[in-house]
Amino acid sequence: MPKLSPHLKGLTGQPSFQIFARARELEKQGRSVRHFELGDPDIDTPQEITDAAIRSLQSGNTHYTPARGQQDFLEAVQATTSLSRGFRPDIDQLTVTTGANAAIFYTIRAICEPGGEILLPNPYFPTYLSAATLAGAVPVLYDLEPANNFSPNLSTIKSLINPRTRAVLINSPSNPLGTVWSPMEIQSIYDIALENDLYLISDEVYARMIYCANSSFSSPATLDECKERVILINSFSKTFAMTGWRIGVAIAPCDVSERITLINSSVAACVPGFIQDAARAALGVPPDVTEKIYSTFRQRQIKLAQELTASGFFDCQIPQGSMYIFPLIKNAHSNSEDFAFHLLESAGIACTPGSYFGSRGEGYLRFSCAGEDSDVVGLSELIKEAANSHFTIAA
Ligand SMILES: Cc1ncc(COP(=O)(O)O)c(C=O)c1O
Repeated sequence: MPKLSPHLKGLTGQPSFQIFARARELEKQGRSVRHFELGDPDIDTPQEITDAAIRSLQSGNTHYTPARGQQDFLEAVQATTSLSRGFRPDIDQLTVTTGANAAIFYTIRAICEPGGEILLPNPYFPTYLSAATLAGAVPVLYDLEPANNFSPNLSTIKSLINPRTRAVLINSPSNPLGTVWSPMEIQSIYDIALENDLYLISDEVYARMIYCANSSFSSPATLDECKERVILINSFSKTFAMTGWRIGVAIAPCDVSERITLINSSVAACVPGFIQDAARAALGVPPDVTEKIYSTFRQRQIKLAQELTASGFFDCQIPQGSMYIFPLIKNAHSNSEDFAFHLLESAGIACTPGSYFGSRGEGYLRFSCAGEDSDVVGLSELIKEAANSHFTIAA
């Protein structure tokens, strides 16, 4: 028998998709399932964006495009970054990728030699761990403590830095937590990166989804304009309800960007031109179109938090941002994976165990607000029934 590479043994991919696959199996058996497992908006991509893709296809934009990206799209990204982050990146700082996931992997591969360490938040978005593993880097987790509202603890981060450390990764607003880090926290982490000469990767895919008047978006990219150490990762997936289109952008120092572009050209060749034309249209849609998407997520977050709290089985905070709820299971007698699978099998409620986001997520569940409004109605009663039977058995 030929042998598989032992190198990828720890690769987990995106574990939420395992829950989704089981939910689909149950549906095939005739069961009805409420979907809270994936961050895939039920909302259609706005018409202006789809129309732009169709026009582009019809005009013949179906060939290879430059690996860095199409010039007109790159210029649109420059203009948008200037408005949203206060600086205009050079074209040779940009790479258009097949989504943020690819950008994260390419970035880690570009800056981290095999055995180099990268500091990741715990809880984390699972791609970080997979991308680091795939790149041969060593993921080192910095815990975000619930007692500290999952804010970054600067001395914890500092204590993990050693000569092998290459980068710190941050994600605000966060998946799965929905927390938004303050400008002071962002500045402090930037200062740590500066003092230790590290790269700082900032995953900003939920940047536009911040709902509280007392928290505002802050990006370390504005501090060095991505000229020296900050690498900004962004995506069209959630911002414009474009998950299936697979388009994101990395903004990085020129030498890093050159490598990211080389990897992009080796792996994907390019992002299709008609997708870039659609994304260019997305950057021009009127704000009320996107605001409608975000207010839908926000209303669901609030309703979902109410239902989860009313069930009596969760301590539930309404987060400041993103499109998730991360409730703590009260008096848990079992681990979050057992509980999540019990909810799925017995009540058709599909959510993701907190442990899939790292050891610090154990004891929690993640509910995505990307599904249908009707899935939230009456949820507390369903949970009560299912959870009561689970806890009785477990006790
Ligand atoms: C924090 C975070 N980063 C990156 C991504 C990946 O986005 P994309 O669809 O652009 O690959 C996601 C998707 O859920 C996410 O939650």
